[in-house]
Amino acid sequence: MSDIKKIKDDYLGKLSCELNLDEVNQIKIELFGKNGLISNSFKELGSVQSEDRKKFASDLNFIKDELQEKINSKIQEIEINEINSKLKNEKIDVTLPERDINQGKIHPVSQVIDEISSIFSEIGFSVEEGPDVENQHYNFTALNTPDNHPARDMHDTFYLDDKKELLLRTHTSPVQVRTMLKSKPPFKIIAPGRTYRSDSDQTHSPMFHQVEGLHIDKDINMGHLKGCLNYFIKEFFEVDKIQMRFRPSHFPFTEPSAEVDIGYELKDGKIVIGEGDKWLEILGCGMVHPNVLKNVNVNPDKYQGYAFGIGIDRLGMLKYGINDLRAFFDTDYRWLNHFGFDPLDVPSNYRGLSR
Ligand code: PHE
Repeated sequence: MSDIKKIKDDYLGKLSCELNLDEVNQIKIELFGKNGLISNSFKELGSVQSEDRKKFASDLNFIKDELQEKINSKIQEIEINEINSKLKNEKIDVTLPERDINQGKIHPVSQVIDEISSIFSEIGFSVEEGPDVENQHYNFTALNTPDNHPARDMHDTFYLDDKKELLLRTHTSPVQVRTMLKSKPPFKIIAPGRTYRSDSDQTHSPMFHQVEGLHIDKDINMGHLKGCLNYFIKEFFEVDKIQMRFRPSHFPFTEPSAEVDIGYELKDGKIVIGEGDKWLEILGCGMVHPNVLKNVNVNPDKYQGYAFGIGIDRLGMLKYGINDLRAFFDTDYRWLNHFGFDPLDVPSNYRGLSR
């Protein structure tokens, strides 16, 4: 009996020291394992004199329970300590200064393309795309601009081969041709994209952006063209009233053709659209030439309509007060930070898809 009392005292002593989980498990084995001290004491029960056996058994059970309880509470204590120290070490220090995060911005040209697409899609235009590398047929010939036509020189084309077969498209008008060739009328599309001409100054860059518009149906006339452009300009500049001027012009692929100016005034050095007596050219347009329709197998006696080509960069410069076109393409991070748009900002005239 004194043996097991000693075992108990020894082990209660051990269990009150600082221990880790492995050490407690080791004690558990020493006491209750197959050859553990307590397990062996139970085995000895049979050899104890019968008059003492009852007391020995009850004492032994008592000691066993006490040790087991101590072990369990020790394990619990270790686990709680572990959780507490984790909480202590892993807590977020809110007093730390924030990390410097470089968030990207949407380029003004991308923003303007999104705005233009959303305005035109509201009035039934879908969006088409064409390649930047075109062949001279789509860029000129199919658009009623034959080989010796002076417009070919006017465009200051970047040719990509000696035969002048491949080129960087000088306007988005070839997308008219591609669109009409691949399906049947009616057509009501816009085609935004990059265009190229060998030209560079404050308002010209060798790469710039246009958006083409094309609406062909049985009875589309110049009145529809005016209405559509008037609506677009008002929505884009977010004004109720604009002044618009159609100046007679010439494009081989439209007849009649016009260039469109919008009225503006300078207030404190800033451009204000819709008022004043100054004019700014923003697009070319006209009624699609019957020869173009013939070239894409559309019968000009049955179908007619308008086309336009708007300078996207110029619209962006006007709306967002940017005065040098070349800055658009300088990839200057500070400029982008200033003129760029937050990715989560929805264009002010975007009304969602449900409308
Ligand atoms: N493609 C013409 C240009 O780049 C613009 C235009 C498009 C004119 C469609 C008429 C019709 O100048």
